[in-house]
Amino acid sequence: MQSIQSLRVNEVHLWQIELKPLAEETPLARSILSEDEWFKVNRLRRPEHRQRALSMRIQLRILLATYLQQEPHSIDFIRDRYGKPQLKNTPLFFNISHSQDAALVAISLHDGLGVDIEHWRPVEQMEGIVKRHFSMAEKEHWKTLTADQHEAVFFHIWTCKEAFIKATGRGLGMGLSRCGFNLSAAYQLEDCPAEYGEPATWSCLPLALGERVSAAVIIKADSCRVQMYRFEPKFPPKIV
Ligand code: COA
Ligand code: MG
Repeated sequence: MQSIQSLRVNEVHLWQIELKPLAEETPLARSILSEDEWFKVNRLRRPEHRQRALSMRIQLRILLATYLQQEPHSIDFIRDRYGKPQLKNTPLFFNISHSQDAALVAISLHDGLGVDIEHWRPVEQMEGIVKRHFSMAEKEHWKTLTADQHEAVFFHIWTCKEAFIKATGRGLGMGLSRCGFNLSAAYQLEDCPAEYGEPATWSCLPLALGERVSAAVIIKADSCRVQMYRFEPKFPPKIV
C-alpha cells in the first residue's frame, strides 16, 4: 500500500512499468486521460508508439493517484519552463523515462528528481558522441577503457547524465558535457554547472535492471535509497 506517508526523506520509490496493451485500454483512457494527453498520444504516427504512450499515461495516473489518494482523472499536471511535468499543489515529485516497452516512474518527496532508462543498442559514431557530450574527466577515463568495456560504460554514463539533466528540469538544452560522473566512485556526480550547487549535494544511483539495459536515478540530497516496485495494472497498489 502506498501513500505520501510511506515515502521517507532521501528515498525514491522506483516503479518498473511494462508498456504492454492493457485490458479495457481505450475506455480506461477515455475516462482518465486529459484532452491534452489524448491529443499528444494521437499525434504519434506509429501505432506501437501510440499504444505505449497510452499505456504509460494510464498507468502513471493510476500509480500517482494511489500516492495522492485521489481519482486518477483528477490529477493535474503542469509543465515547468523547460517542459518537466510536475504535480500541482502537492509535496510529491515524480519523473518518468521509457525505453522500448519498459518504463520507470520515480517518486519522491525531493524536488530535483530525475530518472533514465536506456536499452543498449548499436550506436554509430560512439567516439564522436563521447567527444561531444562527455566531460573532460569522463573523456580521460574513457581513454583508459578497453574496447569491450565501451558499450556498458557508454550507456551507464549516458543514463546518469540524462537523469541529471532531467533532475534539474533543464533537459538536453543544458548540454550533456556540462555534467560529469566518476566511474571509479560508483558514478557519483563530480562536475555540474554552478547554478545547480556542489556536485556532492546530488546523489546518483545506477540501477541493475537486467541484461543490456542501463538506468539511473538522481535526487538532490546527500544520500539516496531506492525502493524498487513492479507495477501490475491488474492489481494496482491500494489507496490507504
Ligand atoms: N526535465 C525533466 N523531465 C522531462 C523534461 C525536462 N525538461 N521534459 C520532459 N520530461 C519528462 C517527460 O515526462 C517525458 O515523458 P512524456 O513526454 O511521456 O511525458 C520524459 O521526461 C521522457 O524521458 P525519456 O523517456 O528518458 O526520453 P528521452 O531519453 O528522449 O529524453 C529529455 C527526454 C527530457 C531529456 C529531452 O526530451 C529534453 O531535454 N526535453 C526538454 C526540452 C529541451 O531541452 N529540448 C532541447 C532539445 S536539444
Ligand atoms: Mg531517456
